[in-house]
Amino acid sequence: MEFETIAAHGFIDLQKQNHAVSAPIYANTAYSFDSVQHAIDLFDLKTGGDIYSRLSNPTNDIVEQRIAALEGGVGALTTSSGMSAALIAILNIAGAGDEIVSSAKIYGGTYNLFNKTFKQMGIKANLVNTDNIEDYEKVITEKTKCIYAESIGNPSIKIADMEELAKLAHKYGIPLIVDNTVPTPYLCRPFEFGADIVIHSTTKYLSGHGNAMGGIIVDSGKFDWEKSGKFPMLTEPDESYHGIIYTKEFKNAAYIAKTRAHLVRDLGCCQSPFNSYLTYLGLETLHVRMDRHCENALKLAQYLENHPHINFVKYPYLKSSSDYAAAQKYLKHGASSLLGFGVDGDGTKFIEALKLFIHATNLGDVRSIITYPAGTTHRQLSDEQLIAADISKDYMRASVGLENINDIIEDIDNAIKISRK
Ligand SMILES: Cc1ncc(COP(=O)(O)O)c(C=O)c1O
Repeated sequence: MEFETIAAHGFIDLQKQNHAVSAPIYANTAYSFDSVQHAIDLFDLKTGGDIYSRLSNPTNDIVEQRIAALEGGVGALTTSSGMSAALIAILNIAGAGDEIVSSAKIYGGTYNLFNKTFKQMGIKANLVNTDNIEDYEKVITEKTKCIYAESIGNPSIKIADMEELAKLAHKYGIPLIVDNTVPTPYLCRPFEFGADIVIHSTTKYLSGHGNAMGGIIVDSGKFDWEKSGKFPMLTEPDESYHGIIYTKEFKNAAYIAKTRAHLVRDLGCCQSPFNSYLTYLGLETLHVRMDRHCENALKLAQYLENHPHINFVKYPYLKSSSDYAAAQKYLKHGASSLLGFGVDGDGTKFIEALKLFIHATNLGDVRSIITYPAGTTHRQLSDEQLIAADISKDYMRASVGLENINDIIEDIDNAIKISRK
């Protein structure tokens, strides 16, 4: 099935759900066992099935299968938020004494997770603030367990060179993990460029309505953990499951099986089935919404590019963008709704004069949203770190919504005028 058809129909079994045409919300926590042997087999991971909703849930399962198919992966795990998806994706293969290499041009929350919390946990994050592949290579050591990047950085709006990063990661026998939140699989499928694991904040475009926190991890099933030899957590016996070896038991779905069996079991950051249901509803219209997000964002970017009181515009589908060639390579149909610009006026007056744009820290919502990173999401970063993350003090990040483009432009235009009074 093609993308749009999977989004609307994928992995629904009408017979199994009393012919209800939409996914049911399974709100229960526990599942009954057929027999003691059935329970033993489930607990020993010898048979598939639900035990307890922290581990798996049929509503979550539909969303997991749908997103795995849309990304072209072998399996997925829903989590409580995008942050817990990033956390689990890395803890699944790295522990105290290990290191990771990541782009520094990433979401501020993820930056903090790597730079502060991972440090406390004994995992060293080497954050690279250039786009040069050689700079990534320089900080890879024997202890490095993955390379991490955002396909389109938030709020830097920088496209990662996933093909080159994947080649580098594979040269050192480690996977490339890509946060694909901003383009979504409709615009970009990182597995096609060599990435091994994809994560998302489903809070954004995948659910799309700004009403459900969530995250997901998708496994491409292509990384050879045994051949690498660097991942004993996957290739050596797990005592908490009577010595099973994930790569032997689950073959190419070993990575994703372990995220569920080990980490979501122990950390408890599971997805609420109600939020999964809302994400499921959002997925049905993902392609239609993304087309309109891209169309509106490009029109606004083109308008701002010719505006006399705009210092700069960042949008990868602008021909003048330094990322234009990368956008043509990595992004089908468009460059999503994130757009950055600098106003030649008073930033506070500009933000407060907007009437249609909502001043908030979110993106991928049907409504247009404006964020002022240096004053909010990236407030805790030092001047040096702000430069590394490509954020100037006048930087405004817009997530262009689905409203009429004339109203969007009029709102911005009016706020620019007020910012200069
Ligand atoms: C690119 C990106 N990844 C991850 C996250 C974290 O997601 P969540 O807010 O769902 O925890 C965000 C949040 O803004 C984000 O923009």
